[in-house]
Amino acid sequence: MDAYYSTQLGSAYNVAAEEFLESQHAAQIKGKLDLIFTSPPFPLIAKKKYGNQIGEEYLAWIVETIKGLAELLAEDGSLVIEIGNAWIKGSPVMSTLPLETLLEIQKKTDLHLCQQFICHNPARLPGPAQWVTIERIRVKDSFTHVWWFSPSERPKASNRKVLQPYKPAMRKLMARKSYNAGPRPSGHSISEDSFFTDNGGAIPPNVLEFSNTAWKAAYKKWCKRHNVPPHPARMPQGLVEFFIKFLTEEGDLVLDPFAGSNTTGATAEKLNRRWIGIEKIEPYLLGSMGQFDDPDRLLSNPPGASNDAAE
Ligand SMILES: C[S@@+](CC[C@H](N)C(=O)[O-])C[C@H]1O[C@@H](n2cnc3c(N)ncnc32)[C@H](O)[C@@H]1O
Repeated sequence: MDAYYSTQLGSAYNVAAEEFLESQHAAQIKGKLDLIFTSPPFPLIAKKKYGNQIGEEYLAWIVETIKGLAELLAEDGSLVIEIGNAWIKGSPVMSTLPLETLLEIQKKTDLHLCQQFICHNPARLPGPAQWVTIERIRVKDSFTHVWWFSPSERPKASNRKVLQPYKPAMRKLMARKSYNAGPRPSGHSISEDSFFTDNGGAIPPNVLEFSNTAWKAAYKKWCKRHNVPPHPARMPQGLVEFFIKFLTEEGDLVLDPFAGSNTTGATAEKLNRRWIGIEKIEPYLLGSMGQFDDPDRLLSNPPGASNDAAE
């Protein structure tokens, strides 16, 4: 399979995920992926009374695709899926299809759900607009679901690699080395010695917060220059960075089967991980070059000059 473009550490392919899974290339990387990180496409949900066909078809497709992807994972590898909330078209009510997707993956695959996360984007524009800014009968929908799966109950992971800076109040407590005596309001007692030790940062919670504002300028400029639309649903780069650092090491192999603007590949490259990106819409891939340093260099890569990240 010829690469659409290649960098030092990875290759992007203009092909559908299903087709990729059937390819020789997929056979070569079977059991070798350390991380699959992706935000899959999601259908527009119509009202129930028109039948639930879209939901049923989607569930069957996504579970089949995830089954195929899971076979590519190393035994201690991880699959992380980001999925937004879904609203019924033309109605101020929500669809449970994202939640059904989670349950269906649990029912129909051998993957373990290692942990659920919420990704809050405080910079998200108020929406769905009709219900939030026009009729004012709902509040802003500003989080996505992030599900971390693995074939193993104990995949490779270290929260030491994603420590967050201590909050000023915690820094003060650590300097003072004292806390009000007695149990906490929750009834727990805090072991003073361990509580006041500086461990290099705070252990992150499973509610993450990232805005999708970084990188915009260079990427948008590149898209404009090449007359392609910027991707409408890019992931926050901080989210990808968090999971790549948490679940992989330098040199590991990361795949995004629904790459879009290839936020995953560009972040993997920055963090010195090998990567593979799969995207079926060609203009998105052309635009995605703008996420890398010196994209003109990628344009001049002859087609087929794959660096074979799987080797
Ligand atoms: C939610 S977007 C991903 C955005 C991406 N995470 C980013 O940061 O730009 C989903 C992408 O999947 C692509 N897609 C949809 N069906 C696909 C398929 N069967 N195979 C490969 N890509 C597909 C869409 O074109 C879209 O770009």
